[in-house]
Amino acid sequence: MEGEIDMDKPYIFITRKLPEEVIAPLRAIGEVEMWPYDDVPVARDVLLANAKKADALLTMLSDRIDREVMEVGEKLKVVANMAVGFDNIDVPVATEYGIAVCNTPDVLNDTTADLTFALLLATARRIVEAAEYIKAGEWKSWSPFLLAGTDVHHKTIGIVGLGKIGQAVAKRAKGFDMNILYHNRTRNEEAERQLGAVYCTFQQLLQAADFVVCLTPLTAETRHLFNRQAFRWMKKSAIFINASRGAVVDEEALYEALVAGEIAAAGLDVFTKEPVDPSHPLLSLKNVVALPHIGSASIETRRKMMERSCRNILAVLTGETPEALVNTEWLAQKRS
Ligand code: DGY
Repeated sequence: MEGEIDMDKPYIFITRKLPEEVIAPLRAIGEVEMWPYDDVPVARDVLLANAKKADALLTMLSDRIDREVMEVGEKLKVVANMAVGFDNIDVPVATEYGIAVCNTPDVLNDTTADLTFALLLATARRIVEAAEYIKAGEWKSWSPFLLAGTDVHHKTIGIVGLGKIGQAVAKRAKGFDMNILYHNRTRNEEAERQLGAVYCTFQQLLQAADFVVCLTPLTAETRHLFNRQAFRWMKKSAIFINASRGAVVDEEALYEALVAGEIAAAGLDVFTKEPVDPSHPLLSLKNVVALPHIGSASIETRRKMMERSCRNILAVLTGETPEALVNTEWLAQKRS
């Protein structure tokens, strides 16, 4: 990674090992280097050393792209994050430095909605607990309430954050004859018509929903949105599902709510600190189903996200407008 660079070609650094056939279009126009591992995040000093000479960075949600990175990146024109979320990137600083920030929306909507709904079903019907039970040889007889969970069909789902993934979850909920409530920064009357979703305040949603599904992006406003008060507003039988970002939830408050019986269970695909420490108190609870941030993790979708990230970089480096630009202000101040 410290080799000679062809000064005429743009230098592109990719922070995880991606398949060669996916990154071939980048190799066709530039010098490309990759962090050599797919299961270990790029070391900070390697990221900084490469940012210093890079025209483009293809990054993961686990990389912190802050002022330090953008300050050293004197030639940096684009940061293409392989995720729809971009809370790992300081977008205002990128804009200040004239750097385009790109993401991968749309291609992951259905895959992430599938996982979110699977997590909801798994938590409600105690699927993980039941699978562990049978493998541990504990199944001695059929019994009336053996591993009995709670019904999903005909219940009320409350979706906090009705973006495209939220709408795809609502579509699935409609198939389960669920009553659909949502809370969003802005009302979506089209989704209300198409999905029969009903707009509520945050508090109304929490008080009425049997399943509270968090899909809101992490921002300064949504950090710890789900605090002790929010869990207290929920029904004692409520099941909380988080498939957005861990820090939208105050995890200590969630733990206390679960232990105090203020809510019934939680399904979590995301954590404040990832990977979550195996000794994290939430992981000790039987009524918590935990997954390692796999919302968009199907092979097909992850490839599409990689391809979209490559196209975003190609567009910026060839003077075009990228398909998925986060900081649209960048268009007015493109670096040449
Ligand atoms: C995203 O794209 O932001 C997802 O969290 C990745 O799974």
